[in-house]
Amino acid sequence: MLDLSVKYLGLTLKNPIIVGSSDLSSTVEEVKKLESNGASAVVLKSLFEEEILLEAATKAEEARIDQMFYAELSETLDYIDLHIKEDKLAKYLKLISDAKKQVLIPVIASINCITPYEWTDFTVKIQDAGADALELNIFLNPTDLSDKNFEQTYFDIIGKVMKKVKIPVSVKISPYFAKPGLMIKKLSETGISGLVLFNRFFSPDIDINSLEVKSANKFSTETEQYNVLRWIALMSDKVKCSLAASTGIHSGESVIKQILAGADAVQVVSALYRKSPGHINVMLKDIEKWMNKKGYNYISQFKGKVSQESARNNAAFERMQFMKYFSGIE
Ligand SMILES: Cc1cc2nc3c(=O)[nH]c(=O)nc-3n(C[C@H](O)[C@H](O)[C@H](O)COP(=O)(O)O)c2cc1C
Repeated sequence: MLDLSVKYLGLTLKNPIIVGSSDLSSTVEEVKKLESNGASAVVLKSLFEEEILLEAATKAEEARIDQMFYAELSETLDYIDLHIKEDKLAKYLKLISDAKKQVLIPVIASINCITPYEWTDFTVKIQDAGADALELNIFLNPTDLSDKNFEQTYFDIIGKVMKKVKIPVSVKISPYFAKPGLMIKKLSETGISGLVLFNRFFSPDIDINSLEVKSANKFSTETEQYNVLRWIALMSDKVKCSLAASTGIHSGESVIKQILAGADAVQVVSALYRKSPGHINVMLKDIEKWMNKKGYNYISQFKGKVSQESARNNAAFERMQFMKYFSGIE
């Protein structure tokens, strides 16, 4: 009997396939469907920092309105406005608590954030609603040309959130850092439980007939997995937290590669949009087939096997491949 269980963020997952944050995990019914198709955990659709701040801002405005004795009608309208905004946060907390009652797999909440400000108070409510962990999608725009200390913001956000909650915190990052390896290592040393490599940016495209900008590719393709594979392989034995591979993981074969490189788990989204949640089971069957063929009973028997063997000479290896490819030196 094969055992596909893995440890991720200190949680035991029945297999390495987590469904990443998207609209596929925005209702309890969908979360149940993902579980019944084999997902070992789900990351819920993200709340945005701005949505949380909006609630705080609206509350302040409400208090001000109270004092100024606004006309009856405007108070009613403001109440309705406030109610709609609060509803979004209340709905999110209800999604967490309802999902926790109806599925057995871990439910990971997600917040997309850009600052370490007041929104961080809300993380306590997420914890109280029963989330097993919190994933922060820190989404600082790499095209920002201002002179802000872009990288310090990551540490400020993590520091603030870690002070508020006791549940495991993971951070989903982009690959756009001057020194991604160093950043990954330093982030892993902050006390977070895991890193998700990587966030995916929608690429812009240009329609040459209408001369308009359009979105190129909402969903990833399988070739996008290789940049993730590189960084998982390079960093898996150098970090102090779990690593989840995300972007371009579309098949059982991709999952095996990421684990061989040292990933603790993977997150899958586009493949399930392109196919269906039933594809999780297909991927799991393919992993089992491969494990049987190789004589592995447990994931730990091959986790990190390839990266560890090549880790001794990573930099030299990368340089040599580059030279072979572009200079014709054999
Ligand atoms: C329709 C759609 C909605 C998404 N919504 C979120 C979101 O709310 N929060 C988040 O962190 N990532 C979101 N993502 C990004 C995915 O979680 C994932 O990082 C990205 O799609 C790369 O993984 P993939 O190659 O398996 O699709 C979304 C992706 C898609 C396609």
